[in-house]
Amino acid sequence: MYPLRRNRRLRTNETIRSLVRENIISPNDFLVPLFVVEGKGVKEEIASMPNYYRFSLDLLEKEVKELWKLGLKSVLLFVKVPDSLKDNAGTEALNAEGLMQRAIKTVKNAVPEMLVMTDIALDPYSSFGHDGVVADGKILNDDTTAILAEMSLSHAIAGADFVAPSDMMDGRIFEIRTLLEDEGFHDTGIISYSAKYASAFYGPFRDALDSAPGFGDKKTYQMDPANREEAIRETLMDIEEGADIVMVKPGLCYLDIVREIKNAVTVPVAVYQVSGEYAMIKAASEKGWLDHDAVMMEQLTAIKRAGANMIASYFAKDAVKLIS
Ligand code: PBG
Repeated sequence: MYPLRRNRRLRTNETIRSLVRENIISPNDFLVPLFVVEGKGVKEEIASMPNYYRFSLDLLEKEVKELWKLGLKSVLLFVKVPDSLKDNAGTEALNAEGLMQRAIKTVKNAVPEMLVMTDIALDPYSSFGHDGVVADGKILNDDTTAILAEMSLSHAIAGADFVAPSDMMDGRIFEIRTLLEDEGFHDTGIISYSAKYASAFYGPFRDALDSAPGFGDKKTYQMDPANREEAIRETLMDIEEGADIVMVKPGLCYLDIVREIKNAVTVPVAVYQVSGEYAMIKAASEKGWLDHDAVMMEQLTAIKRAGANMIASYFAKDAVKLIS
């Protein structure tokens, strides 16, 4: 008596394994998040994100040239705004000469083919550290979406290819799409954070931008980690409102959601492997408890296997260097 099927035959050596491998990470998979600060010659390491940096515009230019050489062709921009420029309405977000608007132009001048995506939310600009306008301790939805649409237009004018609303207000995709169309920006895309959870994994990112909420939490707009159907509803609505690409965030804890959304929609699905996911691997591998490169590749591959068409990841450079 022998087993009728021997699955191990297809695992005998690396040659056959590579032939039957279903998912492979390549430079084309990545969106590279970049943190930008004012100044000159600034490259500051983020304390809770080892080997990840905030760049001033001059060094941002250098960084994007290096990314392009590595085959990394899309960046997702975030800016750190000084406290003196923050207010409740995020007024600075609309400044045509603001740091984000200059960062977009810097990237486009350095590498014109680089795809530039920009974060759309008020938190880095908000004196309350919230993603929207605050009144009586509440986050106002419709006042916020009007500003987000203006912010998107301002980024489009500066040269952004895609805007990436990460705020989770209702109706923002419709409002942004409508204003972009009205103003003639028919080709500016929207990559929507559609299923964004109120996650504890964003901690290091908030250190990077000094954008932690000053009171309360983000649970009245970001989703409850306990919910699944709500993620599908949010995503389908964003597509109806005009999103070109939808996103699930964070990654690893939400791969069930990624697969369900992948099966439910026909637009590309992005996944954000967030700052806390990065920090966990860095911390454990610094202690010698995990093999950094192996765990990094396993997680990225798992995200892709779950259904991601693209991955926003702080590991993009590390991963691409490893596989090239
Ligand atoms: C801002 C925004 C956040 C992230 C991306 N855009 C933080 C938040 O919602 O508090 C998190 C990214 C990460 O943790 O890597 N709206």
